[in-house]
Amino acid sequence: MQPHLKRAFIILVLVIIGFLFVRSFIVPESFGQYGWYRGDSVAELRDIPVGYAGSASCSGINNECHKTTYSIWVDSRHKTVNCETCHGPSEKHVIDTRVMPEPANDTREFCGLCHFKRAARPADFPQIDPETHGENLKCAYCHNPHKPWFL
Ligand code: HEC
Ligand code: HEC
Ligand code: HEC
Repeated sequence: MQPHLKRAFIILVLVIIGFLFVRSFIVPESFGQYGWYRGDSVAELRDIPVGYAGSASCSGINNECHKTTYSIWVDSRHKTVNCETCHGPSEKHVIDTRVMPEPANDTREFCGLCHFKRAARPADFPQIDPETHGENLKCAYCHNPHKPWFL
């Protein structure tokens, strides 16, 4: 073998050995237990506390706690925006109604996360220019968040 090829070959072998050496330290032990991911992550994800209860737990088949709000919302343009999107995770409140959820975020900026005009948004999604729309009042001053055309 040509000497320069030999040197290149030795370097390649060293790089591969180095790679396997470092890899054996940094790849977590449970990697590959079930597939191309850490086996431990299954248990870790399972143990994350559940924070959300889902819109159906506010009213529906099993209870009528927020019957009026729910029946207004369920036919509104906001029916795809779940209660907890605005009211925050409320599982604790559903389990024990003495635990009150945080008040809903009613700032202009919050509604604006979805509704302020952005060039990248689909043109047919309802958007407003925050500079000119609503006279700097809170959106809920005019719009009912549970049925946005209930002005
Ligand atoms: C788009 C955001 C949004 C969604 C979705 C939403 N809410 Fe609200 N909710 C608010 C805001 C903001 C207020 C405060 C109202 C105000 O200041 O007039 C509020 C107030 C309330 C109140 C307090 C009483 C009242 O009517 O003022 C209840 C109860 C409530 N929401 C329940 C629900 C339930 C149940 C759902 C789902 C069926 C829901 N909300 C969905 C934003 C929302
Ligand atoms: C998570 C995203 C999201 C948030 C937050 C949100 N909305 Fe909406 N909004 C929507 C969607 C989705 C629709 C329905 C769009 C459609 O049907 O094409 C909608 C529809 C509307 C409409 C009806 C527009 C029309 O032409 O009928 C108004 C008004 C509105 N929202 C106001 C608000 C206000 C006020 C808030 C804050 C309290 C708010 N939205 C917060 C997603 C959001
Ligand atoms: C002073 C009352 C008032 C306030 C405050 C207000 N709106 Fe409106 N909004 C209206 C009226 C009236 C219309 C219908 C006429 C129009 O399109 O301007 C409307 C229309 C809309 C539409 C539909 C636009 C479309 O092209 O379909 C959206 C979305 C909306 N508002 C979101 C918001 C958001 C988000 C806020 C808070 C940042 C807000 N509004 C604050 C009165 C208000």
